[in-house]
Amino acid sequence: MSDAPPPASRRLYIRTYGCQMNVYDSERMADVLAPLGYAMTERPEEADLVVLNTCHIREKATEKVYSELGQLKALKTERAAAGGSMTIAVAGCVAQAEGEEILRRQPAVDLVVGPQAYHQLPELIARTHRARGERLAADFAPEAKFDALGAERSTSGVTAFLTVQEGCDKFCTFCVVPYTRGGEWSRPAETILAEARSLAARGVREVTLLGQNVNAWSGEGGLGGLARQLARIEGLDRIRYTTSHPRDMDDDLIAAHADLPQLMPYLHLPVQSGSDRILKAMNRGHTAESYLRLVEKIRAARPDIALSGDFIVGFPGERESDFEATLALVREARYASAFTFKYSRRPGTPAAAQPGQVDEAVKDERLARLNALIESQQRAFNTDQEGRVLSVLFEKPGRHPGQLSGRSPYLQAVHCEGPAELIGRIAPVRIDAAARMSLSGTLVAEPQPA
Ligand code: 5AD
Ligand code: SF4
Repeated sequence: MSDAPPPASRRLYIRTYGCQMNVYDSERMADVLAPLGYAMTERPEEADLVVLNTCHIREKATEKVYSELGQLKALKTERAAAGGSMTIAVAGCVAQAEGEEILRRQPAVDLVVGPQAYHQLPELIARTHRARGERLAADFAPEAKFDALGAERSTSGVTAFLTVQEGCDKFCTFCVVPYTRGGEWSRPAETILAEARSLAARGVREVTLLGQNVNAWSGEGGLGGLARQLARIEGLDRIRYTTSHPRDMDDDLIAAHADLPQLMPYLHLPVQSGSDRILKAMNRGHTAESYLRLVEKIRAARPDIALSGDFIVGFPGERESDFEATLALVREARYASAFTFKYSRRPGTPAAAQPGQVDEAVKDERLARLNALIESQQRAFNTDQEGRVLSVLFEKPGRHPGQLSGRSPYLQAVHCEGPAELIGRIAPVRIDAAARMSLSGTLVAEPQPA
């Protein structure tokens, strides 16, 4: 855009729920609204426009949105009583899934905008202001959205997300994503590369490529090929990607982990369950054995890879023996971290109607046992780093004065003493002590000049 933006005169508050794709979307919403004079605020009570970027994946996430909307309604009423106004927009996956239902349940909402329509926010807001007219925009057209957004990013951080793929064709029987985010769609390589170059030019050193099925990226050469092209961009030292599906983990992407020093040794590869009977009922398209063989193949290419996963306990029909198969898989795969969930019944998905819904108390008990096992593996993975020297990308000051905070190649948080000039740079750190969630260490050498 060539016109200078108007001075920031309006306040925008965005609250982000759910996954990293939503974090990316929120950042892009701020980008499209900035030219209209919207500056970010951390305080909803002073906002002229409030956007809730929502998540629909589990029931709890959805309910949180409605309770937040209740509180916003009170703020909006106060504002109106004082002669002002506040616009409330609901974006993201609840917007896509529930559409007009949101306007019915909470009339204080002014507009609803799905994940493929937020580039229309400026127009929708203008319309709302003019006529309180069209309030619903939720369709599937990722291409139009990315065309409208353009490649320029206004981030000032050291790390950034970059969406390369959206949607899902896998139809796991528990999951709403194929319904809320639509079918699998891959962004063309040129626009991804242009955005990555723009990020690198702004000082971003690490990009995380995002997609619900990121490794289903279907451009030429697949995700491995894309990583190879990104690795050539000057200044982009680290590349990550998430979330991967075991079915789309092809040989070239695995080989890229051996070939590219920029491709970080961390892989989020959800398995959900270790029981073949449950995996079949989930429509996952893989078995416990095929998953474990895949992990073996990845470790052959990159022996030190930090493996991460997602697990659901208490899927309908899950027996104690199925759950024990999950524990056995975890023991064999050895995770550096994982996200664990109790099965949450999502209306409209096939599993919601299945018989054999598992008792909440049983889910709680299984979740606690799974968490204990994962935590012990996470601790072991972190403790293994003690005494090693890891390259750390420093992202921000630490909690204490003189301290820096960064990330290891394995995505562990690392704290150490060091000068603020190191922020945005990579330096070697000897790891002195490991906790479950982070490492602490000492700088071992003067880093190379930036
Ligand atoms: N209940 C519980 N967990 C779910 N997930 C997706 N749908 C559900 C559900 N209905 C979990 C899966 C997925 C992660 C993003 O959320 O583990 O990988
Ligand atoms: Fe949901 Fe399965 Fe698609 Fe992941 S692969 S988004 S869990 S349907």
